[in-house]
Amino acid sequence: MAEKVRVLLTEQEVDERIQAIGEQISKDYAGRQVHLICVLKGGSFFMCELAKRITVPVSLDFMSVSSYGSETKSSGVVKIVKDLDESIKGKDVLVVEDIVDSGRTLSYLMDMLKDRDPASLRLCTLLDKPERRVVDVNVDYTGFQIPDEFVVGYGLDYDQRYRNLPYIGIIEFE
Ligand code: IMP
Ligand code: MG
Repeated sequence: MAEKVRVLLTEQEVDERIQAIGEQISKDYAGRQVHLICVLKGGSFFMCELAKRITVPVSLDFMSVSSYGSETKSSGVVKIVKDLDESIKGKDVLVVEDIVDSGRTLSYLMDMLKDRDPASLRLCTLLDKPERRVVDVNVDYTGFQIPDEFVVGYGLDYDQRYRNLPYIGIIEFE
């Protein structure tokens, strides 16, 4: 099946929004160190760009969970594929995700991280599809709210492809 990608958010729009979120985070965490947790693989592009724009001290860790296969629909199954390298006890943790869709992945992940006793725990997502929410998730920083369309680019994939697009696009099947 042939696919086409239609631009939803240009590289410039995404970059400007990340700059603004970076400034907001720098203000909110003034005098503290923020421990960014990237949810692989989708969150990686956003986390790198965001981290470069945060002016308070930053440390990083990565974790990988799976909720989707190669399909465009949620399986509802959340599994930890790679856990964090370091303890988050007493740290000001900010989870960085590519997108909140049904909310299943994040709701599970945030509950699990809360049990590990961070000093604070917040969530930052580049994209949010509020119409799709099944499980309630408290999002502290959102890049863009987008309509219920399957998007790719800036870390987001379709069957592991398109993550490297420097913009966000809607994938269309012909
Ligand atoms: P949730 O558990 O339904 O909120 O799913 C979140 C995960 O599903 C994201 O981290 C993405 O990996 C994937 N996902 C959801 N919507 C999209 C999309 O439009 N494009 C690509 N991946 C998506
Ligand atoms: Mg993801």
